Amino acid sequence: MAQADIAVIGMAVMGRNLAMNIAEKGFKVAVYNRSSARTDEALVEAGDLAGNMIACRSIEELVAALKPPRALLLMVKAGAAVDETIAQLKPHLAKGDIIIDAGNANYRDSVAHDQALSAEGFEFLGVGVSGGEEGARHGPSIMVGGSQKAWERVQPVLTAIAARYQGESCCAYMGPAGAGHFVKTLHNGIEYADMQMIAEAYGLMRAGLGMAPSAIAYVFEGWTRGPLASYLTEITVQALRSTDPSTGKPLVDIILDSAGQKGTGRWSAIEALDLGVPASAIAAAVEARGLSSMRSLRQAVNGALGDAERAAIGTATPEIIAEIEKTLLTGKILAYAQGFDVLAAGSKQFGWNLPLAEIAKIWRAGCIIRSRMLDAMSRAYSATPAPESLILDPDFAGELKASLPAARKILGLAVANGHPVPALTSALNYLQQLRASRATVDLVQAQRDIFGAHGFERIDQPGAHHGPWHTGA
Ligand code: ATR
Repeated sequence: MAQADIAVIGMAVMGRNLAMNIAEKGFKVAVYNRSSARTDEALVEAGDLAGNMIACRSIEELVAALKPPRALLLMVKAGAAVDETIAQLKPHLAKGDIIIDAGNANYRDSVAHDQALSAEGFEFLGVGVSGGEEGARHGPSIMVGGSQKAWERVQPVLTAIAARYQGESCCAYMGPAGAGHFVKTLHNGIEYADMQMIAEAYGLMRAGLGMAPSAIAYVFEGWTRGPLASYLTEITVQALRSTDPSTGKPLVDIILDSAGQKGTGRWSAIEALDLGVPASAIAAAVEARGLSSMRSLRQAVNGALGDAERAAIGTATPEIIAEIEKTLLTGKILAYAQGFDVLAAGSKQFGWNLPLAEIAKIWRAGCIIRSRMLDAMSRAYSATPAPESLILDPDFAGELKASLPAARKILGLAVANGHPVPALTSALNYLQQLRASRATVDLVQAQRDIFGAHGFERIDQPGAHHGPWHTGA
């Protein structure tokens, strides 16, 4: 009998936790996995919640279990698995049924799915879900893109399962298909930058001030009560307090310094480049992960040039630690400003009208980058007119002005003493160029005119100009 409100397809970690979350909120959820063993495991794990779950062992059973118009949420591996699952579902569906891709899709794939499915009379939603396993189970941040009609049909379920920030659901409609996954992509790009900058601040305290992980944990714990209060700051404390049971060493010291990535950070940097918007802090974080995994090249360079010879930047006084906090704050504001600029540019380019204030709001809880600062960002973007950049919001401008001297001092010391700080310096350089009334691209224009007759504008006359260029010695 058709009684389920929604289906979840894909019973790996994210899918089964979302299904349990849906069941817990009182909806009936039909669940299905390509291999049935995982469906069975999910039901066992669900315990009492299994009462609201209908285990389906075939697509026919799944489709029959759903109330029309059917809503089917896919939480399978991004890419080919989504295409294959959609192809398997389609022959069993009726016009008006809704396919929801809730995986980490590239927004271009969502746009393509929407076009193909709507041409055949189906509805499509591309939905970004952030918060990892814990978020999926107890309340993620949910970014929805696709048809309004489909959104209205699934809104009660998605709104109910999302995280809450002071009672408000962290689920919102972003715009047409593609918009949800585009916003999720930038969320992850910002997450990359935030994590990398935290790691760089840690590196400065560790190698630059000679502090032990436990002492640095204490510093980060203090920061969880200030402007850097965030989930990522909190888990940094947790990471730095952990000890390896087999060696007794700090756990962080026995972890291989080589980070993985699944693509969303890289996509953010690519989109930024495509849109012509600087996202240097995000790109630097993506590159830092890439570089970290080039183990043989790192070893070879280490052998050829010697170790980085990181020297002290000072001693661990409260003053220098406060300056490192301000450096991280500066970097973080600038990385978020870049991320939001990419969102604004994408919104304009694709005609999406992305709700920037709403995006900051739904990122305040549930997702990995949840932080106190996002509350201030939602306030900044609620102003009329909204600021052209977060840097121009009076509160953030004030914070930047107050923190900049410390950031310049600390990053100067970091570079002079051999510490790698790529994301923090990329952010600072971005601001240094942005605020300069005259930077150095005038000379680039001169070069372009000399070799390619590209022309240049003058500061004192309108129109395009060429040379005259000095010739001879
Ligand atoms: P995990 O590492 O947790 O197994 P994964 O390989 O990314 O994660 O797969 C996530 C989900 O996508 C799983 O439910 C998986 O189904 P199986 O349990 O049967 O492997 C599903 N999945 C992967 N490829 C698929 C495909 N081609 N068609 C349908 N589902 C697929």
